[in-house]
Amino acid sequence: MRQQIAAANWKMNLTLQQAENLLDEILKAPYHLKTYQKVVLAVPFPYLLLAGQKIAGHNNFHVSAQNCYQKERGAYTGESSAEMLQSLGVEYVILGHSERREYFGETNSMLGEKTKLALSCGLTPIFCCGESLQIREAGTQNDYVETQLKESLFSLPEEQIRKIVIAYEPIWAIGTGKTATSAQAQEMHFHLRRVLAKQYGDAVAEEIPILYGGSVKGSNAKELFSQPDVDGGLVGGASLIAADFSKIIEALK
Ligand code: 13P
Repeated sequence: MRQQIAAANWKMNLTLQQAENLLDEILKAPYHLKTYQKVVLAVPFPYLLLAGQKIAGHNNFHVSAQNCYQKERGAYTGESSAEMLQSLGVEYVILGHSERREYFGETNSMLGEKTKLALSCGLTPIFCCGESLQIREAGTQNDYVETQLKESLFSLPEEQIRKIVIAYEPIWAIGTGKTATSAQAQEMHFHLRRVLAKQYGDAVAEEIPILYGGSVKGSNAKELFSQPDVDGGLVGGASLIAADFSKIIEALK
């Protein structure tokens, strides 16, 4: 059974006190998760340890970072390495979010290096891809997203690509309230799975979870997650509201 994931991306939000309250709120709800269903909390770096302590004993919950650097260690002031994350007990790392690509100049090749390093430290990368509105309007989104995957991931051997989670996040749907329709999400996820199958074969492509991100809310999660190739969501705004995020967790099929 392919894994299903409800992932929260808090981005650069919340004070320590607010973070603690939100974690407590999210964790107090009684969830009935199956073994293949997971909740991943991508909190800001300063709260990684706190989140790790809070989720202790909650079996299906995991902590994620939102980024790591593409070098092992050294004189890179202000950066955090994959090895540091591993040493904190962090299990996942979001890589290639469109905000990092846009505001911090992250390229496909840089993301290839980050992915390799993260995997070598035992972290599960949540690799983000997705097109801008301009590309969607030009109708070239399939090729664009395929290139993002190819240039960052396709030098990985089979046993490593199998450990990755992919998140499709159309930029025009992020923080805009404009969600892709479930049909648009399914169409792209199906395409991504075919691209993976062409490179690695059907069995591997069938195993890789593909999450949808972009204005996922408590009210639309069930419809999105009901699509056969949508294996959960990567959630920004709604993950900051406990009641909303709990509803999204419960929407895993
Ligand atoms: P929103 O859910 O706020 O649209 O953000 C999506 C996102 O960027 C998650 O990584």
